[in-house]
Amino acid sequence: MVRQGHCYTRQMFAASTLTGSKPDQYAQLLAQARGLVHGERDRIANAANLSALVYHALPDLNWVGFYFFDGTELVVGPFQGLPACVRIPLDKGVCGAAARTRTTQRIEDVHAFPGHIACDAASRSELVVPLVLDGILVGVFDLDSPLPGRFDVEDQRGLETIAQVFLEACA
Ligand code: SME
Repeated sequence: MVRQGHCYTRQMFAASTLTGSKPDQYAQLLAQARGLVHGERDRIANAANLSALVYHALPDLNWVGFYFFDGTELVVGPFQGLPACVRIPLDKGVCGAAARTRTTQRIEDVHAFPGHIACDAASRSELVVPLVLDGILVGVFDLDSPLPGRFDVEDQRGLETIAQVFLEACA
């Protein structure tokens, strides 16, 4: 069931289990994400709730969260998972590469990525979506998995759409 995030309406957000094909599941997740941020522009609130939604909805993830660009480097924002490195320069790591090139980085084996930053030693694959609003770099949406090759093209598309929901809500 999709609910708005306003607790004073006496409505609790209830994430339902995703079912069907992967595109079907991402369509359901997208609807839940839209419901969760509906009417809310605060980027911390939306990043926190979207991190929690995705972390609990999708299998085989050990870190889901946001880094925000402070004009110089990426600074960790709301996330789910183990504590992470606080600041990432744009010339470092998978997150830096996504921010610098403004293209999604889908890394099947993080050990093969030069300069990968291992915040959680369990991470084996990673997807990082750049967050760009009106040509301005906002940050990145980062997902880690303990499984090699966890993210395919459908995951990339689905999670890029979730990132877009975040950007549109905060616009
Ligand atoms: N692995 C990332 C660093 C952030 S953590 O995964 C949370 C990178 O190489 O940029």
